[in-house]
Amino acid sequence: MNKDSRSGIETRRSFLRFLAASPLLGMTGAGRLLADETLEQVELAEYLIASPDDALDVFDFHNVARRVLPTSHYGYLATGTDGNETLQANREAFRRIYLRSMRMVDTSNVSLRTELLGENLASPIVLAPVGSQRAFHDEGELATARAARAQEHLQILSNVSTHSIEDVIAARGGPVWFQLYPTSKWSTARTMLERAEAAGARVVVLTVDLNSNSNRVLLGQFARADERDCSACHGAGPDDWLKTKPMYEGTGSVTADWDMSAMTWDYIGRLREATSMKIVVKGVVTAEDAEACIEYGADAVYVSNHGGRGEASGWGALESLPEVVAAVDGRAPVMIDSGFRRGTDIFKALALGADAVCIGRAYIWALAAFGQAGVEKVLEMLRAELSMVMGQMGARSVPDIGSRHIGTRGG
Ligand code: FNR
Ligand code: LAC
Repeated sequence: MNKDSRSGIETRRSFLRFLAASPLLGMTGAGRLLADETLEQVELAEYLIASPDDALDVFDFHNVARRVLPTSHYGYLATGTDGNETLQANREAFRRIYLRSMRMVDTSNVSLRTELLGENLASPIVLAPVGSQRAFHDEGELATARAARAQEHLQILSNVSTHSIEDVIAARGGPVWFQLYPTSKWSTARTMLERAEAAGARVVVLTVDLNSNSNRVLLGQFARADERDCSACHGAGPDDWLKTKPMYEGTGSVTADWDMSAMTWDYIGRLREATSMKIVVKGVVTAEDAEACIEYGADAVYVSNHGGRGEASGWGALESLPEVVAAVDGRAPVMIDSGFRRGTDIFKALALGADAVCIGRAYIWALAAFGQAGVEKVLEMLRAELSMVMGQMGARSVPDIGSRHIGTRGG
């Protein structure tokens, strides 16, 4: 590259940086994308991969997803709450933890195998529950299930899925975990629990971090920018959206029941009586709640701020992990999600004491971009990245990863 073209690129980069910082661009969808991800996204805005195998990291899929998804669907995927403070904090948290490499360890055979609630897993990387996947790709949760099968990953299915648990388990060729949002009507939850268990699910994941409403400003902005008639697909009636959610069939559920604000810790006892599935509590961010999970009989604690979609706490999930791990004190496995994009991110959480790491948007970007093949590539890539960083750190296996491998900047 000659000096002139390099200085041309520099000028363009400075211009894009200027644009990124400008309030004008901040009003457009593209500008808000920056709040979520990296500046490089903008610098490479015209760089699009043509096939999953061209991907160098998961952000390559984000770029494609941004372009192929309907504007409002992209907004639904990308959104945080308020000014996206938690979304940003999730990524910032990884930057505050650095890696401490133990050299000269034989890492010619790195193993990612692990165990979680009695299940033997090929890796600690799990697909987080993401609802409405047909909004991102025609094959929705089925494409995800086929990728999970091919790449041997555990999949957690949302109860607001757009395919039924029976079909997803068939596509997965094995059980999935079932995530539950209760409504104010216990009978809805009970019907779903019975159905999930009968379909073969052995674990229910109770989500407790969206009991109140969340202020999704970014979603509102994208929806406003979408000129299509949403009711053509979603229907115009207040309960029509439930018709696209097979898990609500036969429950008699209506939008008015969609209220979890009265749920308290004794709900876990209720679940325990209603099902023999193991119970995971998703959405824990404090030591107090981790303690409550154990006290009320949860089998595992799942640290999550819902990918920054619940409240604008400005507190990264990775930052809340240490106090949860300390409170649980080995009495149950600890899972985590929110903001994980790289093998290095996953390594840091494992070093802080997590037993498994779930990914959300990273695989949905790939689903939107290339369907099953995209999700497969993301899983393959994240495993390769994790193996690579384990090799660099001198960690031969998941249990081998420990606090000696990390430090906290300024702490
Ligand atoms: C979610 N998440 C979610 N969680 C849940 O318990 N049930 C659900 O139905 C959904 N649906 C959902 C839809 C979309 C579009 C997103 C992005 C997320 C939250 C999800 O399980 C997980 O906590 C986050 O996605 C993790 O953050 P990252 O990996 O997306 O940053
Ligand atoms: C969301 C819900 C479905 O985050 O979990 O949009």
